[in-house]
Amino acid sequence: MSPVQLPENDLSRARDEAATCLGVEELGPGLHLLTLEAPAATSAALPGEFAQLQVEPGPLLRRPFSFSGVDPNRGTVSFYLRVYGEGTRKLAHLSPGSTVRLLGPLGRGFSLPETSGTSLLVAGGVGAAPFPHLATQLLARGERVRWLNGAASSDQLLPTRLMPGGLAPSVQVTDDGSSGRQGLVTDALAELLGGVDRVYACGPNPMLQAVSQMAARLRPEALVEVSIEAPMGCGFGTCLGCSIPLLLQGAPIHGLCCRQGPVLAADQVDWEGLRRQPAHLE
Ligand SMILES: Cc1cc2nc3c(=O)[nH]c(=O)nc-3n(C[C@H](O)[C@H](O)[C@H](O)COP(=O)(O)OP(=O)(O)OC[C@H]3O[C@@H](n4cnc5c(N)ncnc54)[C@H](O)[C@@H]3O)c2cc1C
Ligand code: FES
Repeated sequence: MSPVQLPENDLSRARDEAATCLGVEELGPGLHLLTLEAPAATSAALPGEFAQLQVEPGPLLRRPFSFSGVDPNRGTVSFYLRVYGEGTRKLAHLSPGSTVRLLGPLGRGFSLPETSGTSLLVAGGVGAAPFPHLATQLLARGERVRWLNGAASSDQLLPTRLMPGGLAPSVQVTDDGSSGRQGLVTDALAELLGGVDRVYACGPNPMLQAVSQMAARLRPEALVEVSIEAPMGCGFGTCLGCSIPLLLQGAPIHGLCCRQGPVLAADQVDWEGLRRQPAHLE
């Protein structure tokens, strides 16, 4: 039984599928786009949901990755990967035709609006991963979509060509000024928040906290959702390894990132508690 009463994802939609690698494209140093033929996942994956991927032979535990691109016509899904350790290195060096075990979709994704308005997507580094799929779904609902894409340097930015056409003006920022403006995403955030109904953010936890605080101050009427990372063993609620500090009606509780998250309303996250947890992949 779940330790908290926040909504959980619907595990009945998840399938364990033998996906076929169609190719891996190198996009920048340590950054790759992995494309898999995975018909079951293609028809089910919603923006912000993730899959647990496993290569054989490879690490015992599957690794979690957000669905980045979903192409129902081709039956393919893509993942935007940053090489970190053994699992991501193996995925980045897959040959076409290799098999990848894909378990998904898992987790709770971003809320998709019932009525059209304006959304702002805020990405930090590889946190841009879920946004091609999210932007495609929002545009299909008639939403205006602004995009704030930030990274350490130009070769760490998600390439614009992976996003769908038709975005409202987007802004790029890099820490070193090698592309777009120099600075952090929060330096460009204020000017993009005007008139926004929804803010969706994914990136390192300190960035998510700063974006949430700024949005709450400057655009309190907007829905703000963040995609949080935690170390994951199983991805479906049994290992309890992905426990994160949350708030339920303002009271601190612990939830499971893989079941109640990874996407959460910004005011459901206990940011101070999260800051006290050991750093992992930032
Ligand atoms: C919901 C979710 C979505 C993610 N989406 C993406 C994505 O789209 N692109 C991307 O590049 N990365 C993404 N990540 C991070 C990615 O899962 C890790 O980089 C990857 O698991 C590292 O595996 P490794 O074998 O290369 O590293 P190793 O160091 O060899 O292994 C990492 C081990 O630690 C655990 N672990 C530690 N920290 C984390 C963490 N923050 N997240 C997950 N597992 C961790 C893993 O379960 C694994 O057992 C996501 C993480 C989560 C939780
Ligand atoms: S990853 Fe195992 S419970 Fe969440």
